[in-house]
Amino acid sequence: MLRKIQILLGVFFVFAFGILYEFSRHPGCLFSCMPIAKKLPTFKGVISQGNSIIFLETTDRLEPSPLVSCSVESAARIYHDRPIVFFMKGLKSNIRWDPKNTSTAFSLLSALKNVFIVPLQMETLLQKTPLLSWYHKVNETQEKNWVHVSSDASRLAIIWKYGGLYMDTDIISIRPIPVKTFIAAQASQVASNGIFSFPHHHSFIWHCMKNFVENYNADIWGHQGPYLMTRVLKTLCNLSNFKAVEDQCCRKIFFLNPQRFYPIPYPLWEKYYEVWDIHLNFSDSYFNDSYALHLWNYMNQQQKAVVAGSNTLAENLYKTYCPITYKKLILDRHRSVCKRE
Ligand SMILES: *[C@@H]1O[C@H](CO)[C@@H](O)[C@H](O)[C@H]1NC(C)=O
Ligand SMILES: *[C@@H]1O[C@H](CO)[C@@H](O)[C@H](O)[C@H]1NC(C)=O
Ligand SMILES: *[C@@H]1O[C@H](CO)[C@@H](O)[C@H](O)[C@H]1NC(C)=O
Ligand SMILES: *[C@@H]1O[C@H](CO)[C@@H](O)[C@H](O)[C@H]1NC(C)=O
Ligand SMILES: *[C@@H]1O[C@H](CO)[C@@H](O)[C@H](O)[C@H]1NC(C)=O
Repeated sequence: MLRKIQILLGVFFVFAFGILYEFSRHPGCLFSCMPIAKKLPTFKGVISQGNSIIFLETTDRLEPSPLVSCSVESAARIYHDRPIVFFMKGLKSNIRWDPKNTSTAFSLLSALKNVFIVPLQMETLLQKTPLLSWYHKVNETQEKNWVHVSSDASRLAIIWKYGGLYMDTDIISIRPIPVKTFIAAQASQVASNGIFSFPHHHSFIWHCMKNFVENYNADIWGHQGPYLMTRVLKTLCNLSNFKAVEDQCCRKIFFLNPQRFYPIPYPLWEKYYEVWDIHLNFSDSYFNDSYALHLWNYMNQQQKAVVAGSNTLAENLYKTYCPITYKKLILDRHRSVCKRE
C-alpha cells in the first residue's frame, strides 16, 4: 500500500515538474503555444479525407492580418470536426520554425487543434493537372495580377486533387453550409470563386482548369476567377434570376443564393466597418439566410480595420465568431503574452 502511494507520488512529481518546466520556458503559453512543426507531417493524410476547409495565402507574408485570422478561426469553430488546411506561400518547408519567432496570429491559429498550416508549393500542386503547362509558360514577374491569378489556379488544383471546401481569407463563417457540392452566386447569373465545394476529381473543376488555360488572360481582373466559374457554369446550365432566397441546382451542383455569402453586396462593403444600422438587425433576421459573410477585402484599399470599442458590424462579428482573434489581435494588440520575453 505504502509502496503504491510512493509510486503515485513519484509520478505526480514528475508530471508537476514537467508542467513547471514548460511554463518556465513559455510563460503564458502553457500548452497553447506548441511548436507548429508538429502538425506538418500529417497534413497529406488529413487533406486526403476530402472534407477539409482550404485557405490560401499566395503572397509571401507570414503574419496573417486580423481579418485572415478571424476567417480561419471562425471556420475552425463552425467546422470543429473537420480539418482546416491553410496553405501559405511564404512558408518554406525546409525552415525550422521557432515558435517564439512567429507572429501572434500565426501562433494563435496554429494552436487551434484542427488547423494545419502548410507550405504552398505550386509546382508540386499543379502536377497532373492542365494547369502545369500554363505554369511553366508564364513568367510570374511579368504578370500584373499574379497574387490573384496564382491563387485562382491553386484553389482549383487543390479542390480537384483532394476535394473539400475552399474559402477566401476574408470570409467569416457563421453557420455550417448544409451542402457539399456548390458554387456561390455573387448576384443573379454571376458566380464567385471566393467559396466553393466539390468532391475530389469532379468534372466541373476539370472543365474550369481547362478553360483557365485555353482562355487565359490575366490582364482582365477576375477573368481567371469569378468570370471563369461563371463561363463554365453557363456552358452547363441555364441560370435564371434569383427571385427571393432560393438556391438553384443544376447537374447536381447547387448554385447558392447571393444571400448565403454576400448579404451585403460589394458596393456597400463599408457597412462592415460602420456601426450597424438599427433597421437591419444583425443579431436576428438579417443574416438568418447566410452561412458565411464575405467582407470584400479587395475593395478595402484604405485598409479599414476593426477598432476595439467601435461597435462596428465587423467588431461584433469578430467578438462572436472569432473571439480568440478578437482578444489577442484587437484587444491585447500591444501586450501579447506570447511575445513577452
Ligand atoms: C525570425 O524570422 C525572420 C524571418 O521570418 C528572420 O529574418 C529572423 O532572423 C528570425 N529571428 C530569429 C531571432 O530567429
Ligand atoms: C522573366 O521576366 C524578367 C523581367 O522581365 C526577366 O528578367 C527574366 O529573365 C524572365 N524569366 C524567364 C524565365 O524568362
Ligand atoms: C437552356 O434553355 C434553352 C432555351 O430556353 C434550351 O433550348 C436549352 O436546351 C437549355 N439548356 C439546358 C442545358 O438546359
Ligand atoms: C434586435 O434583435 C434583438 C434580439 O432578438 C432584440 O432584442 C432587439 O430588440 C432587436 N432590435 C431591433 C431594433 O429590432
Ligand atoms: C431564422 O431561420 C430559422 C430557421 O431557418 C427560422 O426558424 C427562424 O424563424 C428565422 N428567424 C427569422 C427572424 O427570420
